[in-house]
Amino acid sequence: MARKVQFVETVLRDANQSLIATRLPYDKFEPMLETIDKAGYYAAECWGGATFDVCLRYLNEDPWERLRKIRAKMPNTKLQMLLRGQNVLGYSHYPDDFVRLFVQKAVENGMDVIRIFDALNDVTNMKVAMEATVKAGAIASGTISYTTSPVHTHKKYVEMVKELKEMGASTICIKDMAGIMGPQEAYDMVSAIKDAVDLPIDLHTHSTTGLAFMTYLKAVEAGVDIIDTAISPFSGGTSQPATETLAYALRQLGYEVDLDDACTKKMADYFKTVRDDFVKDGTLMPKSMATDTQCLTYQVPGGMLSNLLSQLKQMNALDRFDEALAETPKVRADMGYPPLVTPTSQMVGVQAVRNVLDGQRYKTVSKEIKAYCRGEYGKTPAPINPEIQKQILGDEKPLTGRYADSLKPVVEDTRKKLGDLAKTDEDVLSYIAFPNLAEKFLEERKAKEENVATYSIVEC
Ligand code: CO
Repeated sequence: MARKVQFVETVLRDANQSLIATRLPYDKFEPMLETIDKAGYYAAECWGGATFDVCLRYLNEDPWERLRKIRAKMPNTKLQMLLRGQNVLGYSHYPDDFVRLFVQKAVENGMDVIRIFDALNDVTNMKVAMEATVKAGAIASGTISYTTSPVHTHKKYVEMVKELKEMGASTICIKDMAGIMGPQEAYDMVSAIKDAVDLPIDLHTHSTTGLAFMTYLKAVEAGVDIIDTAISPFSGGTSQPATETLAYALRQLGYEVDLDDACTKKMADYFKTVRDDFVKDGTLMPKSMATDTQCLTYQVPGGMLSNLLSQLKQMNALDRFDEALAETPKVRADMGYPPLVTPTSQMVGVQAVRNVLDGQRYKTVSKEIKAYCRGEYGKTPAPINPEIQKQILGDEKPLTGRYADSLKPVVEDTRKKLGDLAKTDEDVLSYIAFPNLAEKFLEERKAKEENVATYSIVEC
């Protein structure tokens, strides 16, 4: 019998985040939820990552309410979210009580699959979220942040996968956020992991460099169970490759694909008009849809290249681009080869620019790099260059244990502090994650409910 390959649809989260900075409001995708639900996906990725932040910051939506509304319209398909381990949805580590309650409430509000990763692949930063996911009865998808370096061997990745299984992972995801994984590498890595553990494997990549279709085909040959794709109008470029194209190709190669073509056609027709609106208002830029092979030469994610450019431009130093680019892998090596993903990609990029413009390496250091050298982001894949660590920390001693162990519980105090502004635990969680944004949101909601006119503050 033909082997089955399953699909995760990313249009509601990663495709939305990668192409249009997560600006898709609920109302714009609501008419398609029932169709997505009937289409036969393994799961629909629809929450987490930047969606939470953007709902509060730009869309004036309660992210929890969005999740409940999606759940109500999609009773048959697993809902999936992306969670940054101990960072949850933010950029630094949170206390364990927050991580636990967040995961519990995400599941209570309808989440089925929680994809948990850590920017350094330090599994101790994933443990609490993994445990909470299993406890809440959801699927914990233990995730590898894929990168290449002298210390990132298949052996290391396989060790990590075994640890994740022990922590309760019921699927494994290989997350190639930069789209730099080639077809042979996919074949070899999926084979190595398949040999080591008996868990379904999901491969997640981006079309940024143009490798994605080939990479998925070879991963499927090696036995990958699930691939992440985006409905065609929201596919390609910095997003995932197209759902319908892969369904077509895989069926032709003899694999079983459960997707209903009438549903994906309806979705494509609908999302084409949505995409066109975002092209018209300038949110979707042609650059995001293009193939960018520079990432292959420099082994840095596409987003990082554009960050380097805009930083240098701000400092009137665009002519130093080549030097800054050459400095980037050196900083990464000094820092013990972190995978370049939020937040490490920003930290390494900013430092490389500083080193070049200062004319002296590590003369100025951001507070994030300092915290990183103290061990606040976790264990680095290789040791940090000891001389540089000493130069940055002086006499301060780096942490030996898990940073979150030093953080005081935060939920109970926040609940008290917010009083009747927070009606539910979900409100408390939103506030801890994004205090300023959530406070404004909760106050506006309260004012609306009390039928008091709200005055928007105009910033001058
Ligand atoms: Co992604």
